[in-house]
Amino acid sequence: MEKDFLYKEIIKLKDEKNAVILAHNYQVPEVQDIADFLGDSLGLSIEAGKTSADVIVFCGVHFMAETASIISPKKKVLIPDLEAGCSLASSINIKQLKEWKVKHPGAIVVSYVNTTADVKAESDYCVTSSNAVKVVNSIPADKEILFLPDKYLGNYIEMVTGRKMIIWDGACHVHEKIGNVVFKDIQVKYPDAEFLIHPECGCSTSCLVRSQTEPHGDRMKIFSTEGMLRYAKSSESKSFVVATEIGILHRMKKIAPEKSFYPVSEKSVCEYMKTITLEKLYYSLLYDQFEVKVPEEIAIRASTPIQRMLEIV
Ligand code: 13P
Ligand code: SF4
Repeated sequence: MEKDFLYKEIIKLKDEKNAVILAHNYQVPEVQDIADFLGDSLGLSIEAGKTSADVIVFCGVHFMAETASIISPKKKVLIPDLEAGCSLASSINIKQLKEWKVKHPGAIVVSYVNTTADVKAESDYCVTSSNAVKVVNSIPADKEILFLPDKYLGNYIEMVTGRKMIIWDGACHVHEKIGNVVFKDIQVKYPDAEFLIHPECGCSTSCLVRSQTEPHGDRMKIFSTEGMLRYAKSSESKSFVVATEIGILHRMKKIAPEKSFYPVSEKSVCEYMKTITLEKLYYSLLYDQFEVKVPEEIAIRASTPIQRMLEIV
């Protein structure tokens, strides 16, 4: 189907149904360009809670749509493709979490937002990459913390806060591959660039150390996707190497067209985020598909850690 036709129809259907399109920074350019709101996990969750629309079409992955549905239970939340999963969210299930908790009675469970709703329901706090450090700092120092599921983010938080945690051995298959080996070559190629690194990356802790110890270490910055965008716009630098999923480059080039952005690897592509296309977005609005609804009992329990996440921004 033609892009212009799809855009026209999507805008018409959005109006008829009082719908809003929320899209993550990793979405394909055509979807980003028609979204009402673009953002990172935290920004999208905040927006899901604020919107006056009746229908939220979530162009992101399944756990994000679930979170939106928990935050706004009265709204219809749609995801254009149910296959939009997340390898990181799949790295722990509810049975594993319950067993882990039994081994650590009394520990506080801090879950990254990249988790399924039933895992959130068994957690004390949720965090996103943009507020994880603040949330962990807010937990009383005498409490043991179980952090899940991302070991790279967990190790990074430990290093920044100085707080020892017990960390689940999970990872995102896209970010885990972004390591130091790739970095070293790129640094030679773009010596004047600043490096924007997502804390889910396999190299996040070593980059943090390098940022504090190497002569030009201050060129390495660790951010959530929205943090990267804000920084790229405000920094005086003219070029940036971006260590996260490459979908973000579209928005970076739009908000700072005078600057240059290079992906740390062209292969950093999340196939789950890319399942969503303009055509599927159109069908989602046309047929109200696919509704994401969290069972009430799980949603009620999951809303407490999510609320805590939204309060600490
Ligand atoms: P943020 O956009 O919250 O930084 O998260 C990155 C991510 O991997 C989402 O799945
Ligand atoms: Fe999940 Fe990784 Fe894809 Fe983000 S990039 S949605 S963490 S699989």
